[in-house]
Amino acid sequence: MSSYADVHKQSIEDPDEFWAAAAAGIDWTKRWDQVLDDSAAPIYRWFSGGQLNTCYNALDRHVENGRAEQVAVIYDSPVTDSQRKITYRELRDEVAVFAGALVNAGVGKGDRVIIYMPMIPEAIVAVLACARIGAVHSVVFGGFAPNELATRIDDATPKAIVSASCGIEPSRVVEYKPLLDLAIELASHKPDHCIVLQRPQLTAQLNAPMDIEWRDATAAAQPQDCVPVAATDTLYLLYTSGTTGQPKGIVRDNGGHAVALHWSMRNIYGVDPGEVYWAASDIGWVVGHSYIIYGPLLHGNTTVLYEGKPIGTPDAGAFWRVASEHKVSCLFTAPTAFRAIRQQDPNGEFIGKYDLSSLRYLFLAGERCDPDTLRWAEDKLGVPVIDHWWQTETGWSIAANCMGIEVAPVKAGSVGRAAPGWEVRALDERGNDVSVGDVGAIACKLPLPPGALPGLWNAEERFRRSYLTTFPGFYETGDAGFIDDDGYIHVMSRTDDVINVAGHRLSTGAIEEVLASHDDVAECAVMGVADQMKGQLPVGFLVLKAGVDRDSAEIVAEVVQMVRDQIGPVAVFKKAAIVGRLPKTRSGKVLRATMRKIADSEDYKVPATIEDPAVLDEIGQALRNIGYAK
Ligand code: COA
Ligand code: AMP
Repeated sequence: MSSYADVHKQSIEDPDEFWAAAAAGIDWTKRWDQVLDDSAAPIYRWFSGGQLNTCYNALDRHVENGRAEQVAVIYDSPVTDSQRKITYRELRDEVAVFAGALVNAGVGKGDRVIIYMPMIPEAIVAVLACARIGAVHSVVFGGFAPNELATRIDDATPKAIVSASCGIEPSRVVEYKPLLDLAIELASHKPDHCIVLQRPQLTAQLNAPMDIEWRDATAAAQPQDCVPVAATDTLYLLYTSGTTGQPKGIVRDNGGHAVALHWSMRNIYGVDPGEVYWAASDIGWVVGHSYIIYGPLLHGNTTVLYEGKPIGTPDAGAFWRVASEHKVSCLFTAPTAFRAIRQQDPNGEFIGKYDLSSLRYLFLAGERCDPDTLRWAEDKLGVPVIDHWWQTETGWSIAANCMGIEVAPVKAGSVGRAAPGWEVRALDERGNDVSVGDVGAIACKLPLPPGALPGLWNAEERFRRSYLTTFPGFYETGDAGFIDDDGYIHVMSRTDDVINVAGHRLSTGAIEEVLASHDDVAECAVMGVADQMKGQLPVGFLVLKAGVDRDSAEIVAEVVQMVRDQIGPVAVFKKAAIVGRLPKTRSGKVLRATMRKIADSEDYKVPATIEDPAVLDEIGQALRNIGYAK
């Protein structure tokens, strides 16, 4: 086995050779002209001139090469008490037919399709059907409110939307169709058709001819073959939170994505084709795209699609039941899930009830993993627990402990060393490297490896401004942290207004926009404060307009409901405090970092630039009133 240092060095010194070798893992209909195309630097493209079909690589080639009867997807749904195993052949056939349904709905190569679905096999079918005909999918997470869906509809301008009658949360059945109808009403762009799967738990009201039932759409469809697309054509868009209420449409291409994800399965996750891989995430997030759907299928693994929670469906042993029943080799989830499990089963008694002998690795990502949780997981599971770091933008991990290259020691609190293809640095404000061990803005030297975003959807200027301008020659990650003597990266916090709630990325700016639209609110601020289970929770501060003398609790309840209605339950916005004023600098900038430190009961220095230090005491008191700032 080569050492990590050798592999990493080669990937940086000779990216053409490194990624051309990795590209041999993918079937191309036309070989590329150039591995790395730097003709439009600092915007880079991979495998220019090449052609392929991602769905062919994820399904058809496995059917043709001896995996036809291997299970491709295990759907395990404790919330509906059902399971289904789908072989590669069955999945290919279902996808080919649904691709025909999309074609009948007027969808062609390059057209966008929004997928707003729960964690059911048809969601994977819809995603791969888009890839099959060269259409661009954009999955929207089910926990977002209609307003957020409408924003994405207007930006992606889809020809069709694929949805289902409902999602199932442990506490309630979520009716998707009214949410979808409202989103379409709110959006300026209107899709031609909505294809809706009727789930047995709830029948949605469909309005022909715009709405088509999934069953009717597939009954009338002709199976479609894979359409070759350019390596640089867009495979999907995935919206993620930035600093404003307008989400960023991250673009993923076909070629670089297929190469990087296929490569990552063996090299990072250490799994072989045929093994069972389980990313306990949601298809609405990047982890779900990359490691529920594309990575495992491109690599010929069996993927688990789990419609349930780590706890409560039915208990804190749910993950161990699934891992043992389906002989999972590698599990990937968010630290929050482990904190939730640990809270209910501190001694790991449920773990002991199941045979977990097939499990070799646990990977964690999505938010900072506290060392305590990591050590607990290691201790209870007895397998390497690998924290690794990535973003919607990057599509796969920037840093990891690569199990297929070299099993290096785990350092709790670190996300490991830079993954091959990534040159990671901690920089000061002027773009110079900080000293080893000092905290800086984490940036990645350009070009980014294949699979990372080549841009934002219809927003090149925003792409340059958001990521490429602060540190010329680098991609600005928006994360801050340090790199230690051994090259291990420690990601500590964000440098912007993005917060992370239960592994879900949210924008405090977007929540502020909602609060500011309340009639009684003159000014507001939102920040992420530490939460033992969810990592962070958003907390709001409201300054009311002069003369408003309504009951504070009523106003708070109203803004809480507004955030739930306009952003969605996933924001978990439950607490706000009414204050007389916000702490500001003399130039009028709200002192968020100081407020957050007060909320988290951390030591803080009164900033020299503060307009009036007394306001910090008021903030402390307001926070104590709602259970923070002990
Ligand atoms: N559709 C509709 N609503 C959804 C939803 C979906 N797909 N997913 C979550 N929600 C709702 C929940 O029902 C809840 O609503 P409520 O306020 O009515 O209770 C709210 O959004 C918050 O959900 P969640 O963050 O899941 O909190 P929870 O308390 O229900 O569960 C955990 C706590 C820890 C079990 C859960 O957060 C979890 O599993 N986290 C792991 C996250 C993860 O895998 N992230 C992927 C990144 S890698
Ligand atoms: P998302 O785009 O939703 O995947 O969120 C990406 C952000 O989550 C990153 O920019 C980090 O702030 C955070 N994040 C993801 N993985 C980790 C990790 N392993 N450790 C610390 N933060 C992480």
